[in-house]
Amino acid sequence: MDPSVSGLTQRLAEADQSHLLQFWGELSPEQQAELTLDLQGMDFKEINGFFKNAMEVSSSSKHEKMDARMEPVPREVLGSVTRDRGSLKEWEQAGLHHISQSKVAALLLAGGQGTRLGVSYPKGMYDVGLPSHKTLFQIQAERILKLQQLAEQKHKIKCCIPWYIMTSGRTMQSTKDFFSRHNYFGLDKSNIIFFQQGMLPAMDYNGKIILESKGKLSMAPDGNGGLYRALGNQGIMDDMERRGIQFIHVYCVDNILVKVADPTFVGFCVQKGADCGAKVVEKTNPTEAVGVVCKVDGHYQVVEYSEITLATAEKRSSDGRLMFNAGNVANHFFSFPFLRDVVQKYEPKLQHHVAQKKIPFVDSQGHLIKPDKPNGIKMEKFVFDIFQLAKTFAVYEVLREDEFSPLKNADSQDGKDTPSTAKHALISLHHRWVLNAGGHFIDENGRRVPAIPSLKDGTDLPIKCEICPLVSYGGEGLEELVKGREFHPTLMIDEHGVHELVKNGV
Ligand code: UTP
Repeated sequence: MDPSVSGLTQRLAEADQSHLLQFWGELSPEQQAELTLDLQGMDFKEINGFFKNAMEVSSSSKHEKMDARMEPVPREVLGSVTRDRGSLKEWEQAGLHHISQSKVAALLLAGGQGTRLGVSYPKGMYDVGLPSHKTLFQIQAERILKLQQLAEQKHKIKCCIPWYIMTSGRTMQSTKDFFSRHNYFGLDKSNIIFFQQGMLPAMDYNGKIILESKGKLSMAPDGNGGLYRALGNQGIMDDMERRGIQFIHVYCVDNILVKVADPTFVGFCVQKGADCGAKVVEKTNPTEAVGVVCKVDGHYQVVEYSEITLATAEKRSSDGRLMFNAGNVANHFFSFPFLRDVVQKYEPKLQHHVAQKKIPFVDSQGHLIKPDKPNGIKMEKFVFDIFQLAKTFAVYEVLREDEFSPLKNADSQDGKDTPSTAKHALISLHHRWVLNAGGHFIDENGRRVPAIPSLKDGTDLPIKCEICPLVSYGGEGLEELVKGREFHPTLMIDEHGVHELVKNGV
């Protein structure tokens, strides 16, 4: 339909976005229909408002360092797997009890574009090259299944951990198809709830929406903090309420070691009476570009590396550890009432952050240009933006080697956070589980491989060992399978038993 008839031309003119129709006459009727549909679904007044606010906040905070306003996390809100060993069992039991009552949900953030990894499908479908070739989605699904079983066995009651999966417009259909093709990895389909986060257009520095082709706007998901708006407008909070969910574990798709719905973390946060909790790993290198959880003007917040001076990043406590060492790994606990308040009352007040990006665009002649320096912005909210709203906050410190190995980048030599590093992290964790359970590895000459095998430059891990989550969620239950036994790598332990793949093909 002619855009002037539908009122679109006028709406665009009022919003100063008329350039979006500049190639109208060159589009096919199908392209015209698609563009019309996209534009009709957009609230330009709101988008222009987001742009104005985001740019204002970004320019006012650009040169301001946070140092003087920051305090480290106080010990009384902190739980630690190394420093509170005596309490871990109690927290875990409490968490398992809540799970057995079907009060705990897992919420997966899987709406990202995975640009750095560079695959055309959702990141959760990625196979990092484990002996089993399981994808990230499958590993997580099996951890949920196992945890349900552990809670059921302990409390002799049937339970479920609903799994809420946030996707974006770009990843929704392929994610759903993938789950359906794999029969929901053994989980009950009705307990996996997909929902879709919003998208926002990329804008140039003057607030004009960017066209990525003559008939298409450049759109991107609105950040993992788009979660809160999506929870409201997709009816997810109502679904949680109907199911009686009280505690929610939120995590990212790309961490291969993630303990989904971790009962110890949940139990700890509940015991602290926290409405919001963050799992953290120790930041040991002052220049590591990781955000740290700390207090700013009395409220909890994640402060990015770029927001502090090197002197502050390097400050140490009397125990020799970095003073600001609570590295954020986007792994959070929320109580249901807190999350509901955020969604109902506070979400609109959360500001978008500005990310300057190189955004391909069509110029006024209709030529596609791929800029070599940033030419515009994407607007995103972050999942941790709501920490400051928490009345009771808890921080739970875990070991990086046990719980955090994100998949961000494609493989490259010496690359960080790649498929290889993720694969090695999981294999090395499972190797340690076997050793802790009293098993041993032997080499081709029958000699025991030392517990910490030496890695020559460029060589792969000498031990390859993968344990199916359906056998063990966090290293438990392995003694009867491995104690006192010697194994050749590659070792696979799954629901069918213990297998040694002597000629390893990993
Ligand atoms: P990242 O910020 O690392 O983004 O997301 P990404 O999409 O995985 O990768 P790049 O930056 O494009 O290379 C951290 C987590 O937040 C989720 C991602 O799916 C990942 O689990 N996320 C990110 C969303 O759910 N929505 C978003 O809009 C952005």
